[in-house]
Amino acid sequence: MPGFSVTTFGCQMNQHDSERMEEVLRGGGATAVAADDADVVILNTCSVREKAEQKLRSEVGRWAKVKRERPDLLIVVAGCMAQQEGRSILAEMPSVDLVLGPDNIAELPGLLAELRMGSPPLVRTEFDLDAPRFLTAPTTLGERPTAFVTTMKGCNERCTFCVVPNTRGPERYRSSAELIAEIADLVSRGVREVTLLGQTVNSYRDPRGALPRAPEADPGDPDESEFAALLRAIAAEVPGLVRLRYTSPHPRHLTPSLIAAHRDLAIMPHHVHLPVQSGSDRMLKRMLRRYRRDEFLARVASLRAAVPEATISTDIIVGFPGETEADFEETLSLIEAVGFVGVFGFKYSVRPNTPAERLPDDVPEAEKSRRLARVFDVSERLVREHLAQQLGKTLRVLVEGPSKAREENATGRSERNEIVHIEDAARVRSRVGEVVEVTVVEAYKHSLLGRMTEAELARTPEGMPTRMRRALPLLGDKPSPGPRGEA
Ligand code: 5AD
Repeated sequence: MPGFSVTTFGCQMNQHDSERMEEVLRGGGATAVAADDADVVILNTCSVREKAEQKLRSEVGRWAKVKRERPDLLIVVAGCMAQQEGRSILAEMPSVDLVLGPDNIAELPGLLAELRMGSPPLVRTEFDLDAPRFLTAPTTLGERPTAFVTTMKGCNERCTFCVVPNTRGPERYRSSAELIAEIADLVSRGVREVTLLGQTVNSYRDPRGALPRAPEADPGDPDESEFAALLRAIAAEVPGLVRLRYTSPHPRHLTPSLIAAHRDLAIMPHHVHLPVQSGSDRMLKRMLRRYRRDEFLARVASLRAAVPEATISTDIIVGFPGETEADFEETLSLIEAVGFVGVFGFKYSVRPNTPAERLPDDVPEAEKSRRLARVFDVSERLVREHLAQQLGKTLRVLVEGPSKAREENATGRSERNEIVHIEDAARVRSRVGEVVEVTVVEAYKHSLLGRMTEAELARTPEGMPTRMRRALPLLGDKPSPGPRGEA
């Protein structure tokens, strides 16, 4: 039976795609094995920044060497680089056997079978524009009570730095009926927290027009979507769902209707990841972000008026073409003004076939590095201050599993998305998938340590499926919400 391995680069959407590749291959009788033992090595690529692309080149180089020893090895380049570069990958990297776009995952077993029959290298990078297929929830769940649900794919924005419209195509949405059925099924199998995924997840519209208009939705507003209506429908129809997250939204669709949904729905966490990219109006305009700094700040203020304790994290690009020191200072001052807790910072890199490709990449590399380091200095301080303020407070934490760092602790996330380690895993074990009250006893750099309150200890656990409880000691940790990127 052939063995395969999938290596993932990039975002949660890619992670999700990798899981689906594994699923279709397992469905075809193949087995997931360690990369060194695999007959098929799949590299699920990212092309959003140059750095991700360099990683792929070195990975393929490594496997090309192995292939010289083991000519039967099949090398697959999947994901966004595959979509972007298509056939030219074969010319540049002759050891590659298959180039597979994100919309072609279902064809993977058949294509591998063709290759094994002796077919020359294949390229499949068709967008499914007429009859979009969506990756559905896995039939076998992980061991955590959390799951991703693809809500939409593609992007109709034209941010000048961004390659996503080329790699993921135009926006296509899943019907709300299908989404709700999938979430209900996940919840019936023990999932308690769902993250809705999409490149501009909050531009959502039901392709079947089945959603009622959400309160405070203004159909005359070009930024309005049906995302708030979707959140309300999920909350109403899947009562067992405890938390509903989403990523990544576009700030222009953070409209009053969505803010009202955050205010009204108990399952919405008090946290939004809201990529701003820059604090300078000049840069925002050049990036074609379709909001100004003051508009972004006004939306954040309305969100905070509705959900006073909301935390906000963001993405920042430094060194976009033409960014002056003064522009950059505006980004720093915006980070302070919003008080982001969690900044994902990136040095601008030119991407092929993007509008910004025509602009001179004129901020020197050393200067980009300096600016990025300053972004991290500010954001690390903000995170530290925020976490220190939580000492002694009681937070509501959704228990996900054991902590990777310390077996004796469990881990979960608060409503505001802080990572909270909880002492005494033995007693927390029966609470996986439940929200527990935890008093914060220590603040670390990117996370908190807490203890279940007396009242919580006295409460009878609701009881999770035994599969998840049994699995508890084996579970891993999640990445920190703190600063990341290429420091
Ligand atoms: N250069 C640097 N960062 C980029 N991002 C997207 N495109 C580029 C680029 N060309 C960043 C943005 C986006 C995140 C996923 O990656 O901050 O929000």
